[in-house]
Amino acid sequence: MSPALAFLGISIIGTWGVASIALIAGGIILLVSPGDADTASGNVAGGIALLIFGAISLGLMGKVVGPLLGVDPPLPVKAKSIIPHDRLQRWARVGPLNSFPDGVPQEVRVRSNRVTIVRDGDTAYALAGLCPHARLPLAGFPGSPIKQEPIRDDCITCPFHGARFELASGEVVRQPFSSEFNAEHPFLGGVQEKLLFFNTKTEAVQTYPVEIEDGEVMVKVPR
Ligand code: FES
Repeated sequence: MSPALAFLGISIIGTWGVASIALIAGGIILLVSPGDADTASGNVAGGIALLIFGAISLGLMGKVVGPLLGVDPPLPVKAKSIIPHDRLQRWARVGPLNSFPDGVPQEVRVRSNRVTIVRDGDTAYALAGLCPHARLPLAGFPGSPIKQEPIRDDCITCPFHGARFELASGEVVRQPFSSEFNAEHPFLGGVQEKLLFFNTKTEAVQTYPVEIEDGEVMVKVPR
């Protein structure tokens, strides 16, 4: 997907999500404080309607609009969905090790899975393609201003909100929107932290076993 299309898709999804949450918040406010006793029943009915519209709108965004636009809703992926390595089943050939830039994450398709490959000298690591914080590509949008971050201290940094994960284990070593990241990236950091107020923390990211066979990167994936 081109960076411009991805940006458009994310903008639509972001606006849609904020509008849906505003509907739900409006509904809750009307239900909690319906106001004047004479008109309270109308406000309660309005609150229930807003809640229902907001929930439907949020569901449509996640299940229909997001997939149609080719982007995922900015909701967290929980660590409990991580598949243990002993339950991964298929080894797949990804490409020659020397075709991957050293120390720079790159996204590939492995069978039907989005996978981030990070070459580190003579070895490589494989992690989920999407950051578990808000389902944005850990390898960024190459060619756009939001590019891959080079690996540092055996960790990958998500270029969107700065979450940092250990390459080998996938464990979180820095949460999104750290003060360091926000100071360096005012729009992706401080501004988006306010927009994503409902999702400011992340859990660990899925990793996949990697072997190098005859100079080829092999990754074990679920399907
Ligand atoms: S999407 Fe990766 S830190 Fe937010």
